[in-house]
Amino acid sequence: MSASSELRFPDNFVWGAATASYQIEGAARDDGRGPSIWDTFSGTPGKVFAGHTGDVACDHYHRYADDVALMAELGLKAYRFSIAWPRIQPDGTGPVEPRGLDFYDRLTDTLLDRGIDPIVTLYHWDLPQTLQDRGGWTNRETAEHFATYAAAVHGRLGDRIRTWTTLNEPWCSAYLGYGNGVHAPGVRDAGAAFTAVHHLLLGHGLAVRALRASGAEVVGITLNPAEVQPADRDSAADAVAVRLVDGLQNRIFLGPLTGAGYPADVLEHVARMVDPATFLRDGDEKLIAAPIDLLGINYYAPTYVAGRPDGAGGSAWPGTEGAVEFLPAAGSVSDMGWAIEPAGLGRLLDRLAADYPGLPLMITENGGAFPDRTTDSAGRVADTDRIAYLDGHLRAVHAAIGRGVDLRGYLVWSLLDNFEWAEGYRKRFGIVHVDYLTQRRTPKASARWYQEVISRNGL
Ligand code: NOJ
Repeated sequence: MSASSELRFPDNFVWGAATASYQIEGAARDDGRGPSIWDTFSGTPGKVFAGHTGDVACDHYHRYADDVALMAELGLKAYRFSIAWPRIQPDGTGPVEPRGLDFYDRLTDTLLDRGIDPIVTLYHWDLPQTLQDRGGWTNRETAEHFATYAAAVHGRLGDRIRTWTTLNEPWCSAYLGYGNGVHAPGVRDAGAAFTAVHHLLLGHGLAVRALRASGAEVVGITLNPAEVQPADRDSAADAVAVRLVDGLQNRIFLGPLTGAGYPADVLEHVARMVDPATFLRDGDEKLIAAPIDLLGINYYAPTYVAGRPDGAGGSAWPGTEGAVEFLPAAGSVSDMGWAIEPAGLGRLLDRLAADYPGLPLMITENGGAFPDRTTDSAGRVADTDRIAYLDGHLRAVHAAIGRGVDLRGYLVWSLLDNFEWAEGYRKRFGIVHVDYLTQRRTPKASARWYQEVISRNGL
């Protein structure tokens, strides 16, 4: 690296890292925490790789002070974490468990003491099991309970936390949770998946209203938009597939969120599986369109699709069975098998900036899982593949900012190796290695590299 940075980022660019409650906290039964759908799911044989659970995870619940010290050492300006709803309301409704709020209170103060800006996600997939017993996100009441919970958390932490995110990747909650059942609660029902999409969005809208009423400054949501490309640019059938996937992963969320309502072609598609009149009520779209200040983007890889009018596609996406083929990644891939294509992030940012002008963006997740063989007894990891991944994507981010995209920050996924949902602990995304037997944390080479990037504010 040269003495002066070649690529400088804007002043005040937010550099940080992200995690989520169930993936790192452990302490699954401490301080009155109720069970979540992920406790149930991971406790069900065959659902998660090798029967792994979040019972202990990174034990962050007990080690948060050391973890924050590590963040400070790396120079992080911001830390994105999620609040476990079942710690705050063990049954999802009713009285607040003060010991749960106490934990996030301590975490917040520790971050602020170190000059790290907390960015809160209110829902990163750990729904209280009691609410799932009543239908979870297929039950409209869950949306209302979510707003009550959001207000309770803001009431306690709102004096110190500026940035509030309602949901993380509602696409995953709905489609993986209720569509193909790969995530908790493991339901397989296309109609339920679309019903869940709507109730998640409604929960977002109601929570935004509650957070505003409670005085929240910056409110947003994090999506995982598809950067969807046709297998063949000249194929009309592929263009139809792109439009469908774009509708089901992007426009179904961004339409209502930005005040345009559900797109007609998306509703038409949904109606083949469930009558929207069973969940969509007058006034809902207006509630969902409550203005937001920030759109969080999680990006890992592009999606290449081909249209299969012959019905030979293999996809299990709700309602795309047979019609769309999702192509396996070509070229270099991460340990998840996801294509490594930084240019996709640039295209996605350009598209969002063009289609939704005036909406500030933040990369709330980007990173890569790699095998990460430790190289010595000190637990060091020379993760040059991760450094290359992050470097490539940061260059794409820098170029997008240069083209005028209003991008406020970049949060790497993840600070720590952690519980990668259905993959358990076998996939490592951390810039800090976690030895799950000893809970020892060892910054990987990528952590030191990131530390340098932050201190230079550039590459
Ligand atoms: C997105 C999710 O928000 C996060 O929980 C997950 O670990 C990463 N993607 C990697 O799959």
